[in-house]
Amino acid sequence: MTEKTLTIVYISLSGNVQSFVKRLGEYLQNHYQLSSKAINIKDLNHETFPVASPFVAILPTYLEGGNGVDSGDVEILTTPLGDFIAAHDNDKHCFGIIGSGNRNFNEQYCLTAKQYAKRFGFPMLGDFELRGTSADIERLAEIIVDNFHIFTAG
Ligand SMILES: Cc1cc2nc3c(=O)[nH]c(=O)nc-3n(C[C@H](O)[C@H](O)[C@H](O)COP(=O)(O)O)c2cc1C
Repeated sequence: MTEKTLTIVYISLSGNVQSFVKRLGEYLQNHYQLSSKAINIKDLNHETFPVASPFVAILPTYLEGGNGVDSGDVEILTTPLGDFIAAHDNDKHCFGIIGSGNRNFNEQYCLTAKQYAKRFGFPMLGDFELRGTSADIERLAEIIVDNFHIFTAG
């Protein structure tokens, strides 16, 4: 079997997703012996490039003026991630997306990840609040590994 590396494409504005991605990478290495490479979209300054390897996307939701009930469905801060996925057919290599959010936003909880899943046609693999707990890491690592293997086998 050839050695596989998982790519994680993410955006983080206030550090929660960044923290999750760092801990996730360590967990995948320690518990699954799976190496991962993280691409932080915020560092790219709107640059895009083809991602030839299978990747999972992780992003928060920032809806302008959202109150979780009757307003706020315009995503303002994480659009560079959507642009990156849309460019160079990168969406074809994305096997799923995970959202970070805050349940205080009710119906809008992790809405952007759900919207991207629908827009690009890949599955929403899960969600976590804020920077995620250790249990979130364990739970989502298993889902990511399963889906990564299914995607790369097919
Ligand atoms: C202005 C603002 C708007 C937000 N809107 C939403 C929202 O609509 N839905 C949601 O689930 N979380 C919302 N959040 C919570 C963030 O998605 C959450 O804190 C996330 O973990 C931030 O990730 P980051 O620190 O990596 O940027 C909002 C946070 C802020 C500051």
